[in-house]
Formats: sequence, C-alpha cells, structure tokens
Amino acid sequence: MKTSTTSIPSTEEFFASVADKSNAAESALRGDYRHADAQYVVQQDWDAYTPEQHARWRRLYQRQLQLVPGRACDEFIAGLTELDAADAIPHLEQASDTLFKATGWRLVAVPGLIPEHSFFEHLAHRRFPITVWLRDESEFDYIVEPDIFHDFFGHVPLLLNPVFADHMQEYGKGGLKAMGLNGLTQLARLYWYTIEFGLINSAQGLRAYGAGILSSGGEIEYCLSSPAPRRIRFEVERVMRTLYKIDSYQETYFVIDSFQQLLQDTAPDFTPLYAKLNGLPALPADSLLSGEINLPTS
Ligand SMILES: [Fe+2]
Repeated sequence: MKTSTTSIPSTEEFFASVADKSNAAESALRGDYRHADAQYVVQQDWDAYTPEQHARWRRLYQRQLQLVPGRACDEFIAGLTELDAADAIPHLEQASDTLFKATGWRLVAVPGLIPEHSFFEHLAHRRFPITVWLRDESEFDYIVEPDIFHDFFGHVPLLLNPVFADHMQEYGKGGLKAMGLNGLTQLARLYWYTIEFGLINSAQGLRAYGAGILSSGGEIEYCLSSPAPRRIRFEVERVMRTLYKIDSYQETYFVIDSFQQLLQDTAPDFTPLYAKLNGLPALPADSLLSGEINLPTS
C-alpha cells in the first residue's frame, strides 16, 4: 500500500502499484473490486458466507479468545466483549451501530487493501474499512493480506475506546497531510509499530494492543514472552526511522504508557520531522541504540 506519489492515484495506478510489489503471477489482490464505489466501499453480502466460513470464523475467534486474557490490554477485551461476535462472521452494519453509539465511528465494507488516500479519508471521517472476505482453511494460522478476521477482531474492539478512537482519526488526518509532505514511509512505520504491533504498559505488566498481534495465534504469546525481540519505549522519531519486516514476527516492539500518550504524540504537525527524517538513514528492525533500554518480558 505504499506509494511515492503525492497526487491521488487512479484505480489503475493503485492496482499497478500493488502488482509491482507482488510476486504473484496473476492478480495481486484477491478481493472483488468490480462493485466498489469511488471510496472502494462495497456491500457486505452476508448471506453469501457459507456455513463452513462461519464455522471457521468461530474457530478463529475461539482460538484468539483463549489467548487474550493476560496478553491483550483491558480496553481491547472490553471492546471485544461489547461486540459479541463469537458466533458468526459479523454483520458489519449491526456492529457499526454498536460502534457508533460508543465513539461515533462506523465500519465500511471494502474488497481488501485499498489505496492510501482512500484509507486515510475513511479514518479521518471516523470510518474503518473492513475487508469482506474470510481466509481459506489453509491460511488458518497465517495470512498475507488482511481478511475480515484480522480487520474485525484485531482492529474494531479498540475503536470502542474513546481515546484510541480519537487517535485513529488523528492518524487518518495525518496520513492525508503526509501525502503532500513525502512522509508516507515514516507514517507507515508509525502505523506498523503502534496500530498493528504495539505494546502498552499496564499495572499488571506488558500487554498487546496492536491488531497484527491480537489477531495472530503465535505472535500474541511471542511478543510478550520471547527473549528474542527488543521491547523499547515508544518515541515517535525513533519509530518513524525503524524498518520493519512483514513476513516474520517483529524484531522490535515499541511500548506506550497509555492511549492518551499515543493520541498526543500522533496529533502534532509532522512536517519538520519528515524533513529531518528524509535526510537520515533508516534503522534496521533489530536496532538497539546507545542509551536505549530493552524492557524485560512480562
Ligand atoms: Fe491491520
């Protein structure tokens, strides 16, 4: 989803940019984009999900549900409970109503990955895009493109938290600004290390809040217990300089103290920071700089 253009890409440019980054011989994206509107929104054809797909959802959900106590932050568990989506692939409109009452956010159905500009536009207007398709059985443990399980289970519970919900909107606004400031690479790293793979300090110890962790059967344990990765205090500039791996567990996790900190640190104008960082080399994903403390496992 990374582009270096500052203008709004056409649909053709979007697919071409995805194809350039894919090793797949055929179509790079698996979603059905034929009926998407200008913002890539589609109808969720809930009746088209098969009994097997609902059963797979239940198994995915139950596996993660067993793993979240003591590993996910309390705010995530509270949101997950409120959504009450254990029994079947959720109706996005119904879940959207629950979400809207809590924080004024809505869910919109999309075919899969969408261009950055559309993604940021949705977030900036308190709409979260949810992929409509569910992974195949062969992808039960690992999936390359985000599916409805990742998008819903991983991302939606925290959108019921008012502070995190405000932070997500600020991130979307920041994304729209970054497109004109040559800052998308840095902003993508911030997204990766917070919204997807962030850890948070709690009174009970380290907990996960990132959707990539919370929807993963393996990384949810690894990120908190393995001695292999680094766990470093969150600092915006450090995060924006740090490369990441998309095909393995993270080599570094960044730890926030609160969602209020995340909101405050994401809201500022990053114009001078992008200018500074574009003149500096990126840091490898496994860096530990002089003076940094590798926090102990929980
Ligand atoms: Fe995600």
